[in-house]
Amino acid sequence: MSQAPRRDVRNHVLFEVATEVANRVGGIYSVLKSKAQVTTAEYGSNYTMLGPLNRASAAVEVEEIVPKDQAMVATIKSMNDRGIKTLYGRWLIDGAPRVLLFDTGTGYYKLDEWKGDLWSTAGIPSPPDDHETNEAIVFGYLIAWFLGEYVYHEKERAVIAQFHEWLSGVALPLCKKRKIDVTTIFTTHATLLGRYLCAGSVDFYNNLQYFDVDAEAGKRGIYHRYCIERGAAHAADVFTTVSHITAYESEHLLKRKPDGVLPNGLNVKKFSATHEFQNLHQTNKERINDFVRGHFYGHNDFDPDKTLYFFTAGRYEYRNKGVDMFIESLARLNHRMKSSGSDMTVVAFIIMPAQTTSLAVEALKGQAVIKSLHDTVGHIERNIGKKLFERSLAWRDGQPPPDDKDLLSAQDKVMLRRRLFAMKRMNLPPIVTHNMVNDSEDPILNQIRRCQLFNQPSDRVKVVFHPEFLNSANPVLPIDYDDFVRGTHMGIFSSYYEPWGYTPAECTVMGVPSITTNLSGFGCYMEELIENAQDYGIYIVDRRLKGVDDSVNQLTEYMFDFTRKSKRQRINQRNRTERLSDLLDWKRMGMEYVKARQLALRRAYPDSFSTTDDEPSFFDAPDAKISRPLSAPGSPRERSGMMTPGDFASLQEGREGLSTEDYIAWKLPEEEEEADYPFPLTL
Ligand code: UDP
Ligand code: G6P
Ligand code: GLC
Repeated sequence: MSQAPRRDVRNHVLFEVATEVANRVGGIYSVLKSKAQVTTAEYGSNYTMLGPLNRASAAVEVEEIVPKDQAMVATIKSMNDRGIKTLYGRWLIDGAPRVLLFDTGTGYYKLDEWKGDLWSTAGIPSPPDDHETNEAIVFGYLIAWFLGEYVYHEKERAVIAQFHEWLSGVALPLCKKRKIDVTTIFTTHATLLGRYLCAGSVDFYNNLQYFDVDAEAGKRGIYHRYCIERGAAHAADVFTTVSHITAYESEHLLKRKPDGVLPNGLNVKKFSATHEFQNLHQTNKERINDFVRGHFYGHNDFDPDKTLYFFTAGRYEYRNKGVDMFIESLARLNHRMKSSGSDMTVVAFIIMPAQTTSLAVEALKGQAVIKSLHDTVGHIERNIGKKLFERSLAWRDGQPPPDDKDLLSAQDKVMLRRRLFAMKRMNLPPIVTHNMVNDSEDPILNQIRRCQLFNQPSDRVKVVFHPEFLNSANPVLPIDYDDFVRGTHMGIFSSYYEPWGYTPAECTVMGVPSITTNLSGFGCYMEELIENAQDYGIYIVDRRLKGVDDSVNQLTEYMFDFTRKSKRQRINQRNRTERLSDLLDWKRMGMEYVKARQLALRRAYPDSFSTTDDEPSFFDAPDAKISRPLSAPGSPRERSGMMTPGDFASLQEGREGLSTEDYIAWKLPEEEEEADYPFPLTL
């Protein structure tokens, strides 16, 4: 799309478009939020995120400001004049990026017109009653409107628009059809069909090439959504995804090979004292101990010092997130621990939002009972202290020292007895902390029932299902997610469908070991990068080549081995895990985003890149910008001349996208050859 007059590609403007801007849903929010700091460092005020306005979350996350960029001012004004409400401000996170949020409700007056236009210009149908699709259409049209106006006002500088996921993708075919003078990137974080097919009982990975995509989408009632996703992938100048496994899937399901892979990073915070993260583990573990004491009141017969906290967390996708396998493995672990006479106890948390009506009375009662006990003991302690002090004051030389007899008054004894009686319980400690809307049909609860993990005193594995994301204002488990993760011993994410999977990555940077699978983007990435991943607290279950039963056993084995580690071994392992943080820092991972943007500029404005120019430095992967992998023996693989995180499928011009051979992490072993490693630097 080369245009005259030529736009300034060096001093370009960047927009990133997504529905999770300042609005937490899942991992895309984590991408945008954690990446903000490096992107604002690079772009400053030339970077704005565009999203739909969710008033509830914007009220706490965004501070309204007045735009300075004249093209932005004029564009917003023109849209406001035509009834579209917007909020321009700073997202209150590290990097404080600028955001422009559109109130989609104010665009619905044009919904019918836009649906008709989408059909006639892009051939994308839309049924009347799919609210999510209607939102995507209105949002997409508002974005295309915004970009069209913006480049009308901003005539000097090139504009890159990067779109995340199908929900923000409607604008892509529109930009192309309307020949809006921007260059575009579409980054998919999953495919719709992949998610749907995996959630069923399909043998997804062995059949990827053979699915009749239109028919499969039709059968699931998502044909129109699929059209949006596929249309976005094909209309973008540059198409990317988050992992090789999803690149392979996209090639088959969306019928376009991604130009490259943009793996997800994190905003890694380094403490000045290197062991600070270990102290944080201890203090946050004590907060979890407090909850556990309340939850298991009357059954606190396990030693907190011999108790390990395992957890899984994420959006409620029962099969895709591998909760079925996790629970089955917990049951086997319980059996192993019992039969081996282990004196350890595992408390396994499942943090997954489901529909609930309220907190369960029993869960609230547990916390209240322990709080009363705590208060009463505190009161008695103060009384005893006072009496002891007074008796000591009255002591005279030659008298025996104050006797501890009678320090506990009859009243104190009664009060204590009442508290002890309140801790009697006839029932077992509950599994779930909330009242579920669909208790009898809930897949997680049913699997727990099937596996008979009922928190019996004899069970070495106890289970707590918290069907709501964590937050410190919650009365039952009052702790923010990050603090909770720090306080646990291990995160377990046995996913079947997981394009990347932030949860184990977050564990790693917090120094918490995790178990993931070789069907998750993160798992494959780490498997490629680290030779002896287990030593580093990165356990990867094989769900690709092993049968289900063997995978469950492998997961059980990993957990069981972990329960046999000494405290010293756990501390050492956490130290090694935390050392991997640099590998996942956006300062390193963000290089692929830089490449994608440069490729988008080259594709849209080839005349601005003289063929005699040296390749831009990002293709040469400036070593200085990339933290080097650790060098100690057995550390992450040292690949001489290693490029950047996506180097097994680096974005390069002049290629027709990746070839299937490039998805090295995905190759089946019989196809692999020793010579393929390390990965070819020039593909
Ligand atoms: N998460 C959260 N609160 C919780 C549990 C999870 O904020 O109580 C976040 C977690 O930090 C992670 C995200 O949810 O960043 C899940 O992202 P992931 O990539 O693992 O999965 P997705 O939901 O995108 O499929
Ligand atoms: C951290 C703290 C130690 C504590 C340990 C507990 O390392 O700095 O003081 O003993 O955590 O580890 P554990 O694996 O038993 O929770
Ligand atoms: C998607 C995927 C998840 C990934 C996230 C961010 O929601 O399900 O695996 O981590 O996007 O890329």
